[in-house]
Amino acid sequence: MSYLDTTIDVYKQAAEKPDVGLCCTTTPVWQLPGLSMPRIMLDMNYGCGSTVNPRDLVNDPTVLYVGVGGGMEVFQFSYFTRKPSGVIGVDVVDEMIEACRTNLLEAEQQNEWFSREYVDIRKGSALDLPVEDESIDVAAQNCLFNIFKADDLKQALQEMYRVLKPHGKLVMSDPVCEQYMSDELRNDDRLRALCLTGSIPLREYIQMITDIGFGTVEIRAKRPYRILSPNHYSTQELIYIESVEVCAIKDPMPADGPCVFTGRTAIYFGNEEYFDDHKGHVLLPNQPLAVCDKTAHNLAALGRDDIFISNSTYFYDGGGCC
Ligand SMILES: C[S@@+](CC[C@H](N)C(=O)[O-])C[C@H]1O[C@@H](n2cnc3c(N)ncnc32)[C@H](O)[C@@H]1O
Repeated sequence: MSYLDTTIDVYKQAAEKPDVGLCCTTTPVWQLPGLSMPRIMLDMNYGCGSTVNPRDLVNDPTVLYVGVGGGMEVFQFSYFTRKPSGVIGVDVVDEMIEACRTNLLEAEQQNEWFSREYVDIRKGSALDLPVEDESIDVAAQNCLFNIFKADDLKQALQEMYRVLKPHGKLVMSDPVCEQYMSDELRNDDRLRALCLTGSIPLREYIQMITDIGFGTVEIRAKRPYRILSPNHYSTQELIYIESVEVCAIKDPMPADGPCVFTGRTAIYFGNEEYFDDHKGHVLLPNQPLAVCDKTAHNLAALGRDDIFISNSTYFYDGGGCC
């Protein structure tokens, strides 16, 4: 049995018997005016962050959501799209699709504004999406891609890239881990399916995203997620896992490489009216300008003593250079 089959088994069970401790998130659930969230959707919140951001959802978007779980986020997305099939949900597990449909029915009963026709649920795999090329404005996945091994992760990212329109956004929430994990942990299919031992370092994740062709990447949040401790897992040392929220934008790749925003800013404190690097970045005195890591590196390389470059906050959701 492959790890993908084990994953299907794990989520078949999680669909039939909600498990509030599975995945788990420190991100507060969106409270939105007039939105009443069915209890069962909260109990089946199997994500590790949020992929819903009102700023992404302007201009009547069509949203794709891969790995629907109990339907909490497809329901939240449909709050913004409010049109038939405005949200397309894809999942490979029959029982999860069934649970999601049932939960959306309950949401319909609790929310006058919502119709279950707003969500089009399709059976299919993240590795072979049943979705047309360049038909999606915002594609989302929450706590699914970390389960995939490298080749499958690449395939899943390529599929998202294929279905997005130019300048479309891929929004993701996933665990990442900077520490070494033994092969024993990595190859434990069940732990991997439970989103515990598949995560890779953030830089590797970003590299895979930009290798696919996404020209802009935003790291929107980074939070504590889990600990793998020697008394519970096969490890000699504590392994710390975080969860990140990432937005990858299908912008053309800049000639000098991708723009990856990790929450850095540049602040000019010299005596001139402004500082202009003649590459599109004008720094006004004592005003932080959000810069991508590439620009932060280039400005630092100038060796000036009147430009301060702040460290990554891993909290960035728009504005600034590039
Ligand atoms: C960790 S849960 C996350 C659920 C949901 N995104 C949430 O935040 O609550 C993973 C989801 O992906 C689905 N899934 C597992 N393997 C999949 C695959 N290969 N393609 C699409 N969905 C898959 C599972 O059925 C489950 O709904």
